[in-house]
Amino acid sequence: MSFKTLDSLDVKGKRVLVRADLNVPMADGKVTDLTRIERQAPTIRELAEKGAKVIVLSHFDRPKGKVVPSMSLRPVAAPLAAHVGRAVAFAGDTIGAEAQVAVGALKDGEVLLLENTRFHPGEEKNEAGLAAELAALGDIFVNDAFSAAHRAHASTEGVARRLPSAAGRSMQAELEHLSKALANPDRPLLAVVGGAKVSSKIDLLQNLVTKVETLVIGGAMANTFLAAQGKPVGKSLHEPDLLDTALKVMRLATDNGAVILLPVDLVVAREFKAGAARRVVPVDGIGADEMALDVGPATIAEFTTKLAGTRTLVWNGPFGAFETPPFDAGTVAAARAVAAATRAGNLLSVAGGGDTVAALAHAGVENDFTYVSTAGGAFLEWLEGKELPGVEALKAPH
Ligand code: 3PG
Ligand code: MG
Repeated sequence: MSFKTLDSLDVKGKRVLVRADLNVPMADGKVTDLTRIERQAPTIRELAEKGAKVIVLSHFDRPKGKVVPSMSLRPVAAPLAAHVGRAVAFAGDTIGAEAQVAVGALKDGEVLLLENTRFHPGEEKNEAGLAAELAALGDIFVNDAFSAAHRAHASTEGVARRLPSAAGRSMQAELEHLSKALANPDRPLLAVVGGAKVSSKIDLLQNLVTKVETLVIGGAMANTFLAAQGKPVGKSLHEPDLLDTALKVMRLATDNGAVILLPVDLVVAREFKAGAARRVVPVDGIGADEMALDVGPATIAEFTTKLAGTRTLVWNGPFGAFETPPFDAGTVAAARAVAAATRAGNLLSVAGGGDTVAALAHAGVENDFTYVSTAGGAFLEWLEGKELPGVEALKAPH
């Protein structure tokens, strides 16, 4: 990898600015999912143990450059402290006198969390002034926020260009796993792309068909591909304006020697609600008043057979309407098949994207993939083959 990690930093007595992603789900001032805090804690703990003065930066939600009290990071300080195993002080601003005084008071091994970077309008504009003020708070910059690395913001990109910089442990793990999954995979490589819309994943599909041996398409976006092949889709969710795009993706796959697997059977119903009466039909058997809500057992059987010869798998997006049982069956069965192959040591499996992680958790296998990314948008942009500004800035010399 062409960037530094904590291994090559001498941090004792230094002020180390750590860009974390503490944009965690919160309800009534309480953190409801600790995953991101768990992932960010090891870097902070390691730096503190090595005698750094650790100053943690993060955005929270989208306050759009204004102070929005309900979007304060203050409630995150206590759960962060619990996971780091040390006290975490909090400063009510990201820059300015309050931040400077709090940073100045830090002793070696102490940890400080600064207020939401996005309370300042310069953050999302990546303003030089804000980046310089942030950089003045530290001697070294560590970016541990892969999930915010698709944003060229002052606290992700700007500050990295102004201080000696390195990747934190979580950033390092994300990049190493994504690299094994897509840049240098053991082959054959298979990608699962599901979800509702082709329109939100055009770049991703076009990039993946140049990289994989097999692309498995599930979710409502498969209906658009089936429609493009002239199959009936009944009342299924699909995008009639994107049939040409679907055909283009299929041509690109053929040109690159990749095979696209579309559903061969579907679970259909007349209404979309939990427990709705349903039947399994071959893809050309859907009635005019029916909609596809999941893939059928023959599709899962085909997927499982394909999996047996696969060495590396990347997964983004569910196969069906998994939030509404029984239309979760396809996604659950496929996720469990991937988990079993991974546990058996036959497969390296990497998943990411908001819905995907929820789907794996629903299937009870979120700990049985080789790696599950905490990133949503950044994971998608990575699959699109785009450079992530937060990562690129770590590679730049200082
Ligand atoms: C996320 O939750 O995806 C990251 O924290 C980035 O947040 P953003 O989409 O508001 O930039
Ligand atoms: Mg996002």
